[in-house]
Formats: sequence, C-alpha cells, structure tokens
Amino acid sequence: MTDLLTVRGLSAGYDGTTVLDGVDFTVPAGGVVALLGRNGVGKTTFVHTIMGMIKPYAGSILIGDRELAGAPAHVVARNGVAIVPQGRRVFAPLTVEENLRIAAGRKPGRWTPERIYDLMPRLAERRTNRGDQLSGGEQQMLAIGRALLRDPRLLLLDEPSDGLAPAIIDQVAELLEGLRGEGIAAVLVEQDLHLAFRLADDVAVMQKGRIVHRGPLTDFRADRDRAHKLLGVG
Ligand SMILES: Nc1ncnc2c1ncn2[C@@H]1O[C@H](COP(=O)(O)OP(=O)(O)OP(=O)(O)O)[C@@H](O)[C@H]1O
Ligand SMILES: [Mg+2]
Repeated sequence: MTDLLTVRGLSAGYDGTTVLDGVDFTVPAGGVVALLGRNGVGKTTFVHTIMGMIKPYAGSILIGDRELAGAPAHVVARNGVAIVPQGRRVFAPLTVEENLRIAAGRKPGRWTPERIYDLMPRLAERRTNRGDQLSGGEQQMLAIGRALLRDPRLLLLDEPSDGLAPAIIDQVAELLEGLRGEGIAAVLVEQDLHLAFRLADDVAVMQKGRIVHRGPLTDFRADRDRAHKLLGVG
C-alpha cells in the first residue's frame, strides 16, 4: 500500500533543545498507526511538528509526495491533515453549534455539521450547550467533529481517551471504528492500550524522541513481555 505520511529523520524541540531525535514514521493511506510511549517522550511534539505548529530542525514530512516540513499549519491543513489536540481544546464560551460552524468554514465539503450530528447524536442533543457545559466525552466528540469538518485525509489524534471513563472510551472507539470506512488515515497517540488495540493496524513505540519499535498490532499484542519492556506497563 502507498504511504500517505512519510516522515524521515525528523528532529525538533523547543528553543534549541532536542525532543525529537531523528524520527522515521509512516502511515499508509487509510491506515491507522498507534503511537505509544510514556509521558514526556515526545508524542505531542511529534504530532505538533507534523501539523506545522512546531518548525523542525531537520528532516522530511511528506503527505503523498508533497514536502511539508517547516510549512505553516494552515498549509498543512490545506493538504488534508487535521489534529484532535491533547486536552481537546474546544472553545469553552462557544456552543457546540458555533464550534462546528467555525470549523466548517464557508466552502461546503464532504463533511457538514448535519453529518457530524448524524454520526454523534449526543452532540445534536447538546447543540446549544457551551463548550464548558459538556462532559469530557462530549468535548472529545466535538473535537473529533471539528477535525472532520476540515475534511482530512490524515487525522492526528493526541490521546483521545485521556481522562475519560471506560464506558466513554468505548463510545469514542465506536465512533473512530465507524470512520475506518471513510478511508481516513490516522496517527493515534495513546498511553492507554485499550483504544490502540481496538483501532490500530500497526503499533509504533517512542522512547526519548525516537521510534524504538514498529510492527503489526497482532505481533505487538502477542508478545506481552516486549510490550511491557517498551512501555513499562502490563
Ligand atoms: N512548549 C514547550 N516548551 C518547552 N518544552 C516543552 C514544551 N512542550 C513539551 N516540552 C518538553 O518536551 C518533552 C516532550 O513533551 P511532549 O509533550 O511531546 O511529550 P508526550 O510524549 O506528548 O507526553 P504526554 O504523554 O505526557 O502527553 C518533555 O520533556 C516536555 O517537557
Ligand atoms: Mg502528549
């Protein structure tokens, strides 16, 4: 399968410090790759660098055959990349409806607020609630809906299960499973293995700004000892 995202030798950090230290990473078109790793290893820095929110020191970020390393976020977005940020970051004073209308912009695309409401009836019920009047799970759905309205080919999901109760994580998993049929590729950053195990085709593990493991989910699941060593969890 051809790769939609190809990252080679990516180095980046903050004010001269190195966080990402030569990252190689690929996502096939329509595929889901889980990026696992402990706190502070550089997962968020990685997705922010892909999104153009951080300028890399070195390396290449290809979407298809388009080089986007160092391009600003709006250019990366125009090339079909959208982020669901860690901590969700919905606009608290705006309603669900307003959050979605802003994301939808003016040109009608494949996704519309109505289609998001069909997909997430819960949001339809809450459409006049403000961002800060939503539960954590509802905020996560809104953040995903907002990203979809940008009509992405590649979705960067930064710990979508963070802070959610298991039953709500299941709802988010169902929603993301439903999206698989849409042909949207995803980088799924997670510390919680539950969501990654349900959704990913491949697993990559990051340690100290490097990818130290990459392979099919089935292999990763089968070797509990290795998973434990890589992540420090059972
Ligand atoms: N804005 C920033 N300015 C300076 N250093 C930062 C900034 N954001 C993150 N860092 C540092 O970069 C390193 C990697 O952080 P990052 O947020 O990418 O890790 P992470 O893997 O996403 O962690 P977590 O699982 O806790 O979200 C950490 O040492 C962190 O302290
Ligand atoms: Mg993070």
